[in-house]
Parts: sequence; structure tokens; C-alpha cells
Amino acid sequence: MRIGPYLLPSAAVLAPMAGVTDRPFRALCRTFGAGLAASEMISSDSRLWHTPKSRHRMNHEGEPEPRVVQLAGADPLTLAAAARANVALGAQIIDLNMGCPAKKVCGKLCGSALLTDEALVARILEAVVSAVDVPVTLKIRTGWDREHRNGVNIACIAERCGIAALAVHGRTRADFYAGEAEYGTIRDIKSRVRIPVFANGDIDTPQKARAVLDLTGADGVMIGRASHGAPWIFRAVNAALRDGIETPTLLRADVRDIILAHLDSVYLFYGEESGVRIARKHLGWYCEQLLDSPAQARRELLGAPDTAAQFAHADRCFSDWAEVAATAASGP
Ligand SMILES: Cc1cc2nc3c(=O)[nH]c(=O)nc-3n(C[C@H](O)[C@H](O)[C@H](O)COP(=O)(O)O)c2cc1C
Repeated sequence: MRIGPYLLPSAAVLAPMAGVTDRPFRALCRTFGAGLAASEMISSDSRLWHTPKSRHRMNHEGEPEPRVVQLAGADPLTLAAAARANVALGAQIIDLNMGCPAKKVCGKLCGSALLTDEALVARILEAVVSAVDVPVTLKIRTGWDREHRNGVNIACIAERCGIAALAVHGRTRADFYAGEAEYGTIRDIKSRVRIPVFANGDIDTPQKARAVLDLTGADGVMIGRASHGAPWIFRAVNAALRDGIETPTLLRADVRDIILAHLDSVYLFYGEESGVRIARKHLGWYCEQLLDSPAQARRELLGAPDTAAQFAHADRCFSDWAEVAATAASGP
């Protein structure tokens, strides 16, 4: 699949997730074959960019290309200026967030709230596309609520405005994350536009990825929560989509090494204080994904006061897990 000048190495991409898809996690997912990995969303309001959180979000040093920066905002000129500034800082694709359901975002008519104002959507897209000479992509939900599923209209507006690719989460804003994602609207969208479309929502196995692509005719899949504690999912999905095969399971010792290397990269990126806190979330997910009885290990790992203790606990916990009798010594 191609987005502007970039030929993606695979059709399975990582979904942008605030608080999750930081630079270390994006890099990890890319090594397992995620075709693209957008940054956590950044506010278009540049007055917020000096905070440590934003500075980390805007750090792309050493990141594999193409570097995708997601922006959230509602004012066309502010978004255009933010896009230009981020391109100057190294963004190679600008992604616009019209999918986030959070009150904090929607209250200010950002994220998925924008879907209620199609004229404003058009003004935003026109302003941003003409402000930068890199591809601009868009992420949406299917509409504001089930009575107002205007995803097809928004997609047609996006194509007309020069958007290079579209990701569609198969829920309305009112659905938040409840119920199951529906793919019928994504199919309708794909049938009406020629730009690449990523289907998103509840894709958690290679089989599901295949089924969603078949059902929607989408060009690729976008995977979010199923990557939590399982960055290797992209390897399995790519093998299924590309070659129709199952990947051999990873060796448990290799999984342990991947987790420890992930911890190291988190500590290096955030430093001691934030590093130990941010690593907790990922460790919790690794425990849930891999261990039969995660409660005890979780408690130890999440209670560790500093990075040295946390790393040592993780090493012990996942080394014990890796040494389980040879017959069971395969991982995910
Ligand atoms: C913790 C979390 C944070 C998220 N942050 C963002 C975000 O910053 N920008 C965005 O467009 N979507 C965000 N999303 C939505 C995801 O990109 C994705 O659309 C959604 O999780 C559905 O995909 P999934 O079922 O594969 O997780 C977030 C989702 C989660 C769970």
C-alpha cells in the first residue's frame, strides 16, 4: 500500500493511542512489521507543546520512516500552523484525529465531535492539506451516533480535499468502546472512495484481520488494543495476510528478551521517575497476555519502587516463565 511517496512494508498498521504508542512502543511494533505507527495525538495548540508530555510526544529521534504525527484540534488555521511546525520538526505524514471520543477532546469540538459539522471538516482538511507538502491522513469514527452515521459523507469530503488515506473505527462516538465494531459502514466507505482505507476496531487475531479485509474491501487494517502486551501481533497478522500462513510461535526466552529490551528503551526515553511509571502499564499487559496466573507477578512488578527493582523483578518473572518445561516453552 502507498501513502503519498511512501510504500508501506505491510498493510497492518498500529493505531494511535495516547499513553501507549510512545516512541519506544512504536519502534517495537515496527520491528514486528507494523506498516506504520502514528504518534500519540498532539494538540494543535502550540502553547501546550512545552510540557514534558508534549515534548516526549514530539520526539521522533531515530524513528523509522515514515514518521507520522497525529494532530487534534478544531480550528483550521491553528491546525494548519501546527501541521507546518511538525513537518519542520520531522513529521513525514500528518494524521488528523476526528475519532477520539474523550470528553476532554470532544468538549472543545475536537476529535469525533467534528463529525457533526461537515462544513468545518472540509475547511480543516483543505487548510491542512494546502499548508504542508507531505501526505495528510485522517482518522474517523463512523459518525456521531447511530442515527447520524455520516462516515461516507466525511470520507467523500476527505477524498475531495486531498486526504491521502483514511482510517475508520467501526463505532460511532456515542458507542465509545461498547459493543462490537461494525464493518458495514467501513465497507460502504471503501466502496465510495479511491484513497486507501484502513479498517479499525476489535481486530485482535490474524483470522479477524483477514475476515475484516474480506468483508470491507479495505486496503489495510489498523490494530490498537490487541497490541497491548503483544507487539508481536503484527508478525502474525502480516504472515496471515501476505502468505496465508501461521507464524511459528516465538521462543519464550526470546519473548523475555523482547520485554526486557522494551523496558530498557522506556527507561532510556523517559528517565528514572517517569520510566518506572510508564513501564508499569506495559508490564501489566505482558503479565495478562502471557502468564497463567498474573496476579502475583503483577503485584510485584507494579509495586517496584524504581527501575532497577522493576527490571530485576521482570527479569526473574519472565525468566521463570521461559524456563517452564520444554514442552510448554513456546510463547505467543
Ligand atoms: C488507550 C487508548 C488511547 C487512544 N488514543 C487515541 C489517539 O490519541 N488518537 C486516536 O485517533 N485514537 C485513539 N484511540 C483509538 C484507537 O486508535 C482505535 O481507534 C481504537 O482503540 C479501536 O481500535 P482497537 O479495537 O484495535 O483498539 C485510543 C484508544 C485507546 C484504547
